[in-house]
Amino acid sequence: MRQNLVAGNWKMNLTYPEGQALVTELVTLAGPAVAAPGAPVVVLCVPFPYLAGIKQHLPESGFHLGAQNCHQKESGAFTGEVSARMLASVGCEYVILGHSERRQYFHETDDLLAQKLKAALAAGLKPIFCVGESLETREADETFDYIGKQLADGLFHLSNEEFAQVVVAYEPIWAIGTGRTATSAQAQEVHAFIRERIARAYDAEAALNTTILYGGSANAQNAKELFSQPDVDGGLIGGASLKAADFTTIIESF
Ligand code: G3H
Repeated sequence: MRQNLVAGNWKMNLTYPEGQALVTELVTLAGPAVAAPGAPVVVLCVPFPYLAGIKQHLPESGFHLGAQNCHQKESGAFTGEVSARMLASVGCEYVILGHSERRQYFHETDDLLAQKLKAALAAGLKPIFCVGESLETREADETFDYIGKQLADGLFHLSNEEFAQVVVAYEPIWAIGTGRTATSAQAQEVHAFIRERIARAYDAEAALNTTILYGGSANAQNAKELFSQPDVDGGLIGGASLKAADFTTIIESF
């Protein structure tokens, strides 16, 4: 179901005590807004070792827990890896898959991501599937071809029922952590394109029901303008999710 949603991606930041302090502050500041009727869904995507502990800090309802990656296999001899089932077993509901940092630094391909999506869904997790172009691709005027291929190769193998569980995040690589946000018009243009591709791959209803997030230097100042776009349903927030006051303002930006 299409929902307003804000996900904080802590990436590889904060020690566990720092993370606990951030969540305590966030629950105090944003708790009322998150519990209010019509509030967006708020997801905290924290490092693996913090998941079970952070779950204890979250109120009964309102805040949801997410991970930043999972392995494609259910279990086995994969030293150092974490399965989707393990994530679900500690109370995780969401998992980010296909973040550009995973694609770039860990060589995750569309084919691998297609497998990870299946594993996450089989464990009952909701994937937040990321797509987005580099600056080079944008300047070569190949953004739509590139994102269309990421969707077709990584995502559209899912059944209608599986796809209904997926959140899509558009994250232009040139905007991630750079302070250079896409304009709301640029974001809207790509979000509308993604929705159109979903309609083609599935149907108009699936397209209408998909939650599509924007990520890339979204912050307390620009969130309202971004979220006001008709096809932008919320944000995948990196740096600004590490500051309780800024993340609260973003949650309140719908
Ligand atoms: O997952 C989050 C995105 O990569 C955005 O990160 O808000 O620090 O640019 P950022």
